[in-house]
Amino acid sequence: MSDVVTMDDLSNEEILSILDDSERLVPVAKGEVHLPLLEGKVLANMFYENSTRTRMSFETAMKRLGGSVLNFSSTGTSVAKGETLFDTMQMVDGYADIAVIRHPRQGAAQYSADAIGIPILNAGDGAGNHPTQTMLDLFTIREAHGTLEGLNVVLVGDLRYGRTVHSLSHALTRFGAKLTLVSPETLRMPDEIVTDLRSSGSEISETTELSDVIPEADVIYMTRIQKERFPDEDEYTKVAGIYMLNATDMDGSKDGMIVMHPLPRVGELHPSLDSTKNARYFQQAFNGVPTRMALLCRSLGVKIPKKVKK
Ligand code: NCD
Repeated sequence: MSDVVTMDDLSNEEILSILDDSERLVPVAKGEVHLPLLEGKVLANMFYENSTRTRMSFETAMKRLGGSVLNFSSTGTSVAKGETLFDTMQMVDGYADIAVIRHPRQGAAQYSADAIGIPILNAGDGAGNHPTQTMLDLFTIREAHGTLEGLNVVLVGDLRYGRTVHSLSHALTRFGAKLTLVSPETLRMPDEIVTDLRSSGSEISETTELSDVIPEADVIYMTRIQKERFPDEDEYTKVAGIYMLNATDMDGSKDGMIVMHPLPRVGELHPSLDSTKNARYFQQAFNGVPTRMALLCRSLGVKIPKKVKK
């Protein structure tokens, strides 16, 4: 199947081959090489939730490969008149060759994939999964460390509602990473996910203290507290701003340790970090372009040449 709804849709072998494809596509992603592999193809960008990077990087990826994009959001369309997801997706099936969907409801991407024939890429379903983000995260980690295996990755913040860390933790344990989960008690990684991660044989530890685990980390992956998913604003206020990193927190960290964040940041990363050698979050956001190019090509059955000429 060519849908990507969770990381289970990709084998380890496929993940590595998509990362290799993405690496060769970097000059195309930068606009240095013209490679119209997706000429004549149409992507429907279906965003029922806010997005900056995911929407824009999919659009750039498609356009740099010669394709075109239909941009959809739930405001300004018939969703506001009460049209169902099922009905809207029937139109998309006829108007586009592939669709990217972001939706506040967990399960909405799978529901869409089941409802129509064109490939679906899940760009975030509520507090569920965000597999295309995971692909660019893995790309960023491999770019910095040369491997995905045996790393100590610290995941920090909202591990309960954060879909990026749900998909990423799953993928990392498949490559033998050791995970340290840092969150307030109320935002722990859901038990069923932790059980699943442990069943892979990986070492998983949990703590509420970020500063204790910085010296051992190869990667620190910060996340935003997902305000919009809290049933109660007071509960959000109790944990808002709980984890913050600044440049001096990098003292005593391992050589080559990188700080990542899917962004947007709302205080978790002090701007003093931006100019440190540890900061990788802006590079990480750029990496969305080559990895999404490779994912679009895979789902559309288009092979990426083994050599991309400069
Ligand atoms: C994330 C998301 O939408 O889940 N953003 C992204 O895609 N880069 C993280 C977030 O919103 O906090």
